[in-house]
Amino acid sequence: MKNKIILITGSTSGFGEAISLRLAKKGARIIAAGRRLNKLLKLQKKFGLDNILPLELDVRDQKKVFEAINSLKKEWSDIDILINNAGLAKGLNSSDDTKMEHWNEMVDTNCKGLMYVTRAVLPTMSKKNKGHIINIGSVAGTYPYFGGNIYGASKAFVHHFSLNLRADLADKNIRVTSLEPGAAETEFSIVRFDGDKDKAKKTYDGFEPIEAENIAEIVEFVINSPKNINLNRIEVMANNQTFAGFKFIKN
Ligand SMILES: NC(=O)c1ccc[n+]([C@@H]2O[C@H](COP(=O)([O-])OP(=O)(O)OC[C@H]3O[C@@H](n4cnc5c(N)ncnc54)[C@H](OP(=O)(O)O)[C@@H]3O)[C@@H](O)[C@H]2O)c1
Repeated sequence: MKNKIILITGSTSGFGEAISLRLAKKGARIIAAGRRLNKLLKLQKKFGLDNILPLELDVRDQKKVFEAINSLKKEWSDIDILINNAGLAKGLNSSDDTKMEHWNEMVDTNCKGLMYVTRAVLPTMSKKNKGHIINIGSVAGTYPYFGGNIYGASKAFVHHFSLNLRADLADKNIRVTSLEPGAAETEFSIVRFDGDKDKAKKTYDGFEPIEAENIAEIVEFVINSPKNINLNRIEVMANNQTFAGFKFIKN
């Protein structure tokens, strides 16, 4: 872990913030990316960690993603590990009652953003025949639920793209892991419900969700896993969450 250069998207809150802090404390050099620069600066300052480089970045902007990654200073450009964590869900309505801008935002961020960052980082890894990409998917990519629609589909993309990346990159010694969590209390539901904190809070009422720190611990385990194995896919749920059963529509 020590001195490894790790690019983490979505470092301003939730999983990304917890992963950044945990790995920085273990001596990794973190490029912490996100749109809210003030939060990235706070993260760096609060813990006095000069091994965190804040990178203001909207993953939806293809041109800026390539510019930002290609113009990293020499001491930061040799990325060892990429953690594609930036992502969001918008809305929880049935498909026939959703906003098109919500659907576009999820595809632009969860699929296209992840694509751009990956493609921009890959030449560095393939040149040195070494690397690890950890993509944060979701159990929503495997199990449908009411209102999951495009969010679930975008996470199925993350799962399948991860497997395809691995098929392309195994002979270049680049490991690829799809890490697929269930419900966790972060800013996720606040974003999903357009800033409605009360509605977001209700999601977790009487339920003990995954904590961001749980995911950070798993990421550390994935990174430290023996070099002769590749963890293809890891699915994790809170102990009191399970997959939905079949639904019968009866007359
Ligand atoms: N919480 C859950 O229940 C859950 C479960 C399974 C999977 N996940 C996945 O886990 C990942 C992290 O989510 P979280 O739970 O930690 O939610 P979160 O607290 O809302 O964090 C999401 C992060 O993504 C960043 N982000 C969103 N849009 C972005 C964009 N266009 N460009 C750059 N960064 C962007 C946000 O940063 P800025 O807003 O500052 O840009 C933020 O740092 C997501 O991919 C999510 O789908 C979450």
